[in-house]
Amino acid sequence: MQDETTLRTEALLAEKRVFKPSSQIVDQANINTEQYEQAIKYGEADPEGYWAEAAQELEWFRKWDRVLDDSDKPFYKWFVNGKCNIVHNALDRHINTENRNKTAILWEGEQGDVEQLTYYELYQQVNKFSNVLRSLGVHKGDRVAIYLPNIPEIAIAMLACAKIGAVHNVVYAGFSAAALKERIHGSAARIVVTADGSFRRGKLINLKKVVDEAVDGCDTVERVIVVKRAGESVDMSDKRNLWYHELMRDAATEATTEVMDAEDTLFMLYTSGTTAKPKGIVHVHGGYMVGIHRTLKWVFDIKPTDVYWCAADPGWITGHSYIVYAPLIAGTTTVMYDGHPAYPDAERMWKIIKKHGITILYTSPTTIRMLMSYGDELPRRNDLSSLRLLGSVGEPINPEAWMWYYENVGGQRCPIMDTWWQTETGMFIVTPVPASPLKPGSASKPFPGIQAEVIDKHGRAVPPGKGGLLAIKTPWPAMLRTLYNDRERYKETYWNIVPGYYIAGDVVTKDEDGYLWFQGRADDVINIAGHRISTAEIESVLVGHPAVAEAAAIGVPDAIRGELGKAFVILRQGQAGSDELAKELKQHIRRELGPIVVMGSIEFVESLPKTRSGKIMRRVLKARATGKDEGDLTTLAD
Ligand code: WT7
Repeated sequence: MQDETTLRTEALLAEKRVFKPSSQIVDQANINTEQYEQAIKYGEADPEGYWAEAAQELEWFRKWDRVLDDSDKPFYKWFVNGKCNIVHNALDRHINTENRNKTAILWEGEQGDVEQLTYYELYQQVNKFSNVLRSLGVHKGDRVAIYLPNIPEIAIAMLACAKIGAVHNVVYAGFSAAALKERIHGSAARIVVTADGSFRRGKLINLKKVVDEAVDGCDTVERVIVVKRAGESVDMSDKRNLWYHELMRDAATEATTEVMDAEDTLFMLYTSGTTAKPKGIVHVHGGYMVGIHRTLKWVFDIKPTDVYWCAADPGWITGHSYIVYAPLIAGTTTVMYDGHPAYPDAERMWKIIKKHGITILYTSPTTIRMLMSYGDELPRRNDLSSLRLLGSVGEPINPEAWMWYYENVGGQRCPIMDTWWQTETGMFIVTPVPASPLKPGSASKPFPGIQAEVIDKHGRAVPPGKGGLLAIKTPWPAMLRTLYNDRERYKETYWNIVPGYYIAGDVVTKDEDGYLWFQGRADDVINIAGHRISTAEIESVLVGHPAVAEAAAIGVPDAIRGELGKAFVILRQGQAGSDELAKELKQHIRRELGPIVVMGSIEFVESLPKTRSGKIMRRVLKARATGKDEGDLTTLAD
């Protein structure tokens, strides 16, 4: 199979194959070719007018005075003095429409259990939990940490926080106790919401134990609320602990929705940067709801009849924007699956699509490549004819995987939306729409209203075919507003690299048609299965091990996960490298950072290549590890 697909890719690229959208799809899409071209022009000529029009599709308690305030760059403000609440648009306003009794959340667990919540039921649950939080003294602006699996309660908890104006800080339930502690501590959360357990590949993971370890010594945490999910016995002896179902039992089903300023914080979400300290990305109510609504509606062409499955986890930005908030704002049915995509067998995803009649599937290249390794037969023998659109996110999708997805999952009829964006951008930035001609492996063009360019580090335009930095020239409504408690780092990280531009940290090339081809990260961040990990985080954990004196981490290519971590380690005096020690170090990384940090090999070395100023040259290590040119070595000391 490998040889065949490689050959096919080469042929494809040689052909410069372009997939033209079928008129059947375009004619029925939320925007057709002409409207798309007009929107691009409108967004270029008058971005504020264009985004104001998008904002008018939503309900506001008070209209804004000004669309954009850019008087204190890069601290942009959108929809100045506008009053709103994202939950009013995601839930409250649906209750008096035909959406009331429609399925809002269609959930399936790994064990095959299914749960459905209508908009009205979800609304009531959210109101109840809003009342619970209020009764525990949670106020507007307070932080609530959420460490839950992919179950309806995670959406309920997020929406309840937003409804009462509290700030949610969701931590992906695969993170370790140490990582969770850092994130709870960093946000000074008053409440932590978790569950007794979660299933992964049939194995029960006790989340409460992780939380107990994480909150130990965290005095800001007043309450730990525990959802009963797995029936796992947990230690509730600490008086901070409360059962979710007991609190919910007597809570009232009506709750007022807090009137928020457009610029009030909706949530914070930690993501890896180039240092070991994660960054708390801050998003707000107003601009965020406008950006995610417009993008989902146009890119995934959401219609009221869709059964839309974003197979990510709410613990990441993908889940925040496109499992929870935007689909509910659109009034569609959003599917949540809590389990491994190949459990109990590699047909699981295809069976879910068939069972629920899913119309739109949005997943990651890693998942596609993993399922592709089981062959064409499995998707082909399941009826996937309900699908009409596909999506990809998290990392560059290689043309082989794109073609496999297109042919075997989409039956050559479903366009693939390869969406490039980030935790920071909040919404899709570079993406096709169903009317776009598609090139396998390219995320196409900037979304209407976005001005993005490829430049070098001096701000000069890079010619077609050459690699450069992706730079966004004008602000957009769903952009991050700052880094939590760190305005300086916000400026430095994104806006001071090339003054006047938002620098995303990705390398990209533009072709003659203006299509963008993402190549990977430009900085010391690696992408393992679509998860962003900083090399510094891995290094800092390694040097925390008693056997390690110094360490350098890089990413190396992997056929399924895109990249894997690789570490070069200098041991302390008296320590000897061995397979056992390498294994122990991998386990140490897993324990400290969580199972998302998948390490390939660990190599024991005598020295590391460094610049004269003592900085590790990861570029050199990477070139050696991948057999590529080492590039400019003039700053190398040794
Ligand atoms: C980084 C952001 C945004 C949701 C998931 C990840 C990489 C994301 C693509 C894509 C090529 C992509 C970039 C980006 N990335 N989507 N379609 N093609 N690369 O969010 O954890 O904030 O990571 O993921 O490198 O900078 P995140």
